Amino acid sequence: MFKHISEEITCVMERDPAARSRWEVALLYAGFHSILSHRIAHWLWERKWRFLARLISQFSRFVTGIEIHPGAVIGRKFFIDHGTGIVIGETSKIGDNVTLYQGVTLGGVAPSIDSDAQRGVKRHPTLDDNVIIASGAQIIGPITVGRCARVGANSVVLKDVPESTTVVGIPARAVSSAKKKQADPRFAAYGVGDHSIPDPVFKVMDGLLDKVQSLSMRVEELERETAKGPSALPLEAEKKPRSTPANRSTKGKL
Ligand SMILES: CC(C)(COP(=O)(O)OP(=O)(O)OC[C@H]1O[C@@H](n2cnc3c(N)ncnc32)[C@H](O)[C@@H]1OP(=O)(O)O)[C@@H](O)C(=O)NCCC(=O)NCCS
Repeated sequence: MFKHISEEITCVMERDPAARSRWEVALLYAGFHSILSHRIAHWLWERKWRFLARLISQFSRFVTGIEIHPGAVIGRKFFIDHGTGIVIGETSKIGDNVTLYQGVTLGGVAPSIDSDAQRGVKRHPTLDDNVIIASGAQIIGPITVGRCARVGANSVVLKDVPESTTVVGIPARAVSSAKKKQADPRFAAYGVGDHSIPDPVFKVMDGLLDKVQSLSMRVEELERETAKGPSALPLEAEKKPRSTPANRSTKGKL
């Protein structure tokens, strides 16, 4: 059990740039507390101690602001950052290494309509491994968010999300089929960027070096032409006209 608790703390340390120590996570992180409560509540739920399970879940919601139904199945290294306002429905299924931010709902499509027919039926989403759901996103219905997929902040997702795809908006649509992200399923804090973000100073230096190189090539070219004498220099009138949208469009028509 302690191994599992330690693993939950480690996953917070790995995924929250603001986390400074394991003690801080253990004592102050609402997401961590709600997951521990859920592990107990789910254990009781599975053994048909349903009322006690719901009692623990509701107490945890009161303390953390995160509501996880004890029936939800949640994998290892689940990370909830901030957490307030998160609701995870009874038949949700969450894989390993999943991250949720505040305000996320894993909900049913219309729980209030014909509720009896919906009892015990899969009506909440499934999130595969390594999924990141940004703050405020609503994932509705028994859909599947594929492995390594990302859902943008405040999106409303109503259809399956393919593996390694980022979806945003209402209703959510794919903005990138990030095959590159599949190759590197490591966590990116806040779902942003990859792990090789270039140093901005290095980027500027790189640009300057390119410019210096192209200028020195041009100077060498001009020196060679000057050495051949003035006749080798192109006359102003003979100079190749610059390519402009206007003359580009007339190319081939004359
Ligand atoms: C979607 C997200 C996870 C990043 O995914 P990504 O694969 O790196 O996608 P990109 O940043 O390359 O964005 C792709 C496109 O979607 C747009 N986009 C990103 N997030 C969006 C959102 N929530 N709503 C609408 N459009 C969004 C971008 O502007 C970009 O559009 P462009 O291609 O026209 O420039 C990230 O933008 C996000 O929403 N992060 C929020 C994390 C969070 O909850 N933070 C709170 C912590 S307290």
